[in-house]
Amino acid sequence: MKKYEQLLLQNRAWVEQKLQEDKDFFNRLANVQTPEFLWIGCADSRVPANEITGTNPGEVFVHRNIANMVVHSDMNMLSVLDYAVNVLEVKHVIVCGHYGCGGIKAAMINKQIGLIDNWIRHIKDVYRMHQDELEAIDDMKMRQDRLTELNVIEQVYDLGKTSIIQNAWQKRGGPYVHGWVYDVSNGLIKDLKVSMHDDSEMPDVYRFEKMTKV
Ligand code: CO
Repeated sequence: MKKYEQLLLQNRAWVEQKLQEDKDFFNRLANVQTPEFLWIGCADSRVPANEITGTNPGEVFVHRNIANMVVHSDMNMLSVLDYAVNVLEVKHVIVCGHYGCGGIKAAMINKQIGLIDNWIRHIKDVYRMHQDELEAIDDMKMRQDRLTELNVIEQVYDLGKTSIIQNAWQKRGGPYVHGWVYDVSNGLIKDLKVSMHDDSEMPDVYRFEKMTKV
């Protein structure tokens, strides 16, 4: 059997197991999804959103890209964010980075990889913003870990800078935006405690005025 065919077999086995636990599992999910969470995570194969949070299909709306970035000109991310916030009305948006992230490592060296260099540049910008703090850390692994954390924190702020999140905050006092880091070496998620649900911590220049009705 070819390796990919194994995945299809495993799918059949998974369906059977789910139905054994709950015969209506798929019927309930067939026509509606009402997730409370939007997850913005890394594309890394070791960080599957549902599995590491013990959640089922239907519970987490997911967007993943290299190094869990919130790039405000990324139409893919903005579309997911707008749909999650304004249509699904999720209560929480979680940016989850992870230690050992290849994107973070790549941002800290000067080697060209290819097209991805342009994506990684957004992480280099985060590095430059926190250069003094980072370069005061001699141990390279610890410096990478700190950049991973600082990158997540910047992405949380970048969410807060979007008109999508700011309008939702004004309209319904939510969603909460959170910054987490997952440790691939022990499976544990650390809450970076940078949660926000209003613009009080936003630098003035990023704060939009309330939309007025025309
Ligand atoms: Co990664």
